[in-house]
Parts: sequence; structure tokens; C-alpha cells
Amino acid sequence: MFTGDKVLILDFGSQYTQLIARRVREEGVYSEIHPCNISLEEIKAINPQAIILSGGPASVVQENSPKIDPAIFDLGLPILGICYGMQLISYLLGGKVEPAKVREYGRSSLELLTSSPLWEGIWPEHKEFTVWMSHGDTVLEIPQGFEVLAKTESIEFAVIGAREKNIYALQFHPEVVHTDFGKQIIANFLFQIARLEPSWSMSSFIDNVLEEVKVQVGEDKVVCALSGGVDSTVVAVLLNKALGHKLHCIFVDNGLLRLNEGEEVVSYLRKHFDLNLHYVQAQDLFLNRLKGVTDPEEKRKIIGHTFIEVFEQEAKKIEGVKWLAQGTLYPDVIESISYKGPSAVIKSHHNVGGLPEKMDLKLIEPLRELFKDEVRKVGIELGLPDFIIWRHPFPGPGLAIRIVGEITPERLEILRQADKIVQNELLEADWYRKVWQGFAVLLPLKTVGVMGDERTYEHVVALRVVDSIDAMTADWSRLPSELLARISNRIINEVKGVNRVVFDISSKPPSTIEWE
Ligand code: XMP
Repeated sequence: MFTGDKVLILDFGSQYTQLIARRVREEGVYSEIHPCNISLEEIKAINPQAIILSGGPASVVQENSPKIDPAIFDLGLPILGICYGMQLISYLLGGKVEPAKVREYGRSSLELLTSSPLWEGIWPEHKEFTVWMSHGDTVLEIPQGFEVLAKTESIEFAVIGAREKNIYALQFHPEVVHTDFGKQIIANFLFQIARLEPSWSMSSFIDNVLEEVKVQVGEDKVVCALSGGVDSTVVAVLLNKALGHKLHCIFVDNGLLRLNEGEEVVSYLRKHFDLNLHYVQAQDLFLNRLKGVTDPEEKRKIIGHTFIEVFEQEAKKIEGVKWLAQGTLYPDVIESISYKGPSAVIKSHHNVGGLPEKMDLKLIEPLRELFKDEVRKVGIELGLPDFIIWRHPFPGPGLAIRIVGEITPERLEILRQADKIVQNELLEADWYRKVWQGFAVLLPLKTVGVMGDERTYEHVVALRVVDSIDAMTADWSRLPSELLARISNRIINEVKGVNRVVFDISSKPPSTIEWE
């Protein structure tokens, strides 16, 4: 558990809550998101040094809207309310809030009215700037002890603060990039108002984890499924530092990886990190079971079950295994704890297909407090190379869901060659890190072409390259036409059996990133 200064973010269901947590961490202060309906006792047990109340879609004047125990204001902690958080502070401390007639959404011009620790480094040079509003209710009367710090054209009380109590409230969202000085305002709350110490860094995180894991695991053994992706590799290298050869990493080659991927990752990790690595070559087993299968969900099922079978077999060979290490990240954790209103469905974490229960293993999830960009920073601290840190996400079922139709050794070979060209060209052109994912897809059809004087009748490859922040939504990347031309020319000239390349220009939704 992290022992430095900590900010508790109470989530009232805003789409920006994660962003608040990230902004706080970017300032070097650890932050944790919890649902707004946790009890005062739970808050005390978390022991935060400051609290932020997030925005949310509800209206405080509605009977069933989420509230907090007003005793929270007597804890003596600095509190910042954002949007719904502001309305809640006003409502609970005796102000007046008017229900929404229309929601105000988008850019607004904020006018600062007086100096305040919140405006450190902003006032008096910048008395008017753009902020991002998204609210329904409006505060009509502010609670006693508060002063007005800023207004907008349509809202009299856009920012209020009670200097003695250290309680501040903003009607706009400082956490979004469209708000000018948003970063500065958050930093001012953390350092000018709450007087926190920035002690959250990736090297302090690593030190903490190493200590904790050593105590937690003792003399037991731990298994870890290594996929070659950044999350599982960081878990493996981190735990290896703490546990040495008590950690057993199992890399299952399912025959559906990219060209030479398995060998490259395994030999790199063996050479540089002295990992206790079991490289299981199960290509034939997977490909045999996939023979004749064309349905995407059927493919996923077969691959999932076979993976568990192979992993379990290998893990059982190791005596004294009590733990399974997994690369669960903070967004997965938040997903299952966030406040989503009365109809919330709590999603259980996806772990390696029920393995921990089946094999009676306890879970270690050393990255469960981290966002993806923080995992990358940990990876860099641990000395992992760019080709692992910046690797695009790769689906568990691998190339099986990028070969539309049946998977055969010949079709796998064609896709691997085409995909290698896509990867190389994106890297060469400095586009690899600008996009979320880029890959080739092999289609189940042949088309007519002409090469030299000959008519050809060969495969079509689709190029899929997308921009995204979290894979929930995505848009096709606007690659330069010269790059597209080079990729297409190279695939058609160099990959035997392909005479046509098409570029996928669909966004998600309604399409998905993968084709199957
Ligand atoms: P879709 O195709 O749903 O993909 O837009 C969203 C993200 O998830 C990855 N993906 C998968 N990952 N097993 C995985 O481990 C799967 O079955 C799977 N399907 C899609 C995809 O690569 C993208 O990053």
C-alpha cells in the first residue's frame, strides 16, 4: 500500500473521473477513485490528505441523487468539488441549487473576480480564459463562509471557495484539456491549498511493490502468463526483481503470433533479465483444433480453452505454486468499483479464464493501481526496450481473428509476411507510436489482377490502422498517401499470393477494430 500523501476522488459517475485521477498523479500525488457511496469509516480507513468530489450526471435536488455524509466536511480535509461536486457542496452546506432547465455544455469564458490560492500563477495576468463546462443545475445561493472567486456570462457563481475551511468548488472541468490553466488549477489545489508532498513516482512505486511482494509471497512460488505485451512483461520483470527464480513465467506459443514474435520476446527477456521462462511450443495443438473452424466466436473459445489447458499443464509441473500474477490495470479495477447509479452491474475482473479458482491459486496484481501510461513508465524504469514498451495491443486469439475464414498454415504465412511489412513501414515512417494499432487482415476472397502479361487470381489484404485512447471508440488513422502507397506496393510485390490491398476506413462504432 502506498504510504505517501494521497488524494481520494469520490466518483459520482462522471465520464471524466479517471481523468481527474490521472491529472493528480501527473503532479506526482497518488490518487484513488472510490464510489461516492462509501461510508465515512471507509474514507477514514483510506486516510486521504485531500478529497475531490467528481462531476456526475445526476441533479442534487432530485430525491434519489447520490449524496455524501455531510460529516465529511468536518474531517478538516481540503476538499475540491467539480461540477456535480460543486452543487453537492453548495446544497449540503446550506446554499441553494436550482434544477436544470437546459444543460450547458462546451466552452465558456471564465472571469476571475479576486485573488485566491486557487489562482496562484494565473491571477492577475490572466483574468479571463476559456473553461469547459458541462452542467445542468446551477448554484443560486452560496453557503455561508464562501466567497465567489469567478463567474461566467451565464453563471454568477462559477467558482467559490472557503479559505478557512479549505473547501473549493468549480462549476467547470479543470481536468479536460480544453480548459485553459486546468493543470495549474489542479496543482494549486494540491500544493497551495492542501499543501501535499508530491511523492508518487514510478521509482517509488517499484520500491513499494518489491517490498510488499516479498512479504506477501514469502517462500511460495508464483506463475505468470507472459504474452509479450507490455503489461504482462512489466509484471514479469518487476516480480522477477522481487522474487528471482521463485517466479515462473509461462509463454505459450499458440502458432498465431506475428512473424518471429515468440522467439524475439523470449530470447530478449532471457538474455537481459534472467527470467525463469518456460517457453511452451503448442503451435500444432492450437492449429489442429482450429482446422476447418470459421466462426470468430468459435475460434476465440477454442483458443481460450486450449490456452488454459496448456498453461495449467505447464504450471502443474512446478511444485509449490501458490500464486498467479496478472497484469490487471487500474481502469479494469475502476470499471468494477465505479459508481454507476442504482442499476450498476458490477463486473468481475477478467482473469486468465477462471484459472485461479480452478488451480486454487491466489492472485497477485502488482499493476492494479496504475494507468497504462504509468505502466510504460515503470517498464522504462525497469530497462525494457522500446519494442516492448510501445508495442501495439495484440489480441489473445492473435492472427486467428485477423484471418477471416479458415486458418491454414499457408494463410498464416501470407498474413505474417504482409503484417511484417505494415509494422516495418509504420515504424520507418515514424507513425507506429502515433497510432493505437496497425495491422493487416487476410480476407477470404480472391480477386483478379495482372502481373507482367499474366492474369492473376489471388488474395486480398486489408490494412487496418486506427487512432484511439482506450479502444472503446476508434477512428481510422489519416495516414499520408505516400505511406499507404508504399505499404500497398511492398505487400503486392513481396508477398506471394496477394494481388490487392485495401484500406479500412471505418470508425468504431459501428465497426470494431478487429475484423472478427
Ligand atoms: P474490437 O475489435 O472489439 O477491439 O474493437 C478492441 C480492442 O480489443 C482487442 N481485442 C481482443 N483482445 N482478446 C483480446 O485479448 C480478444 O478476443 C480480442 N478482440 C479484440 C483489439 O485488438 C483492440 O485492441
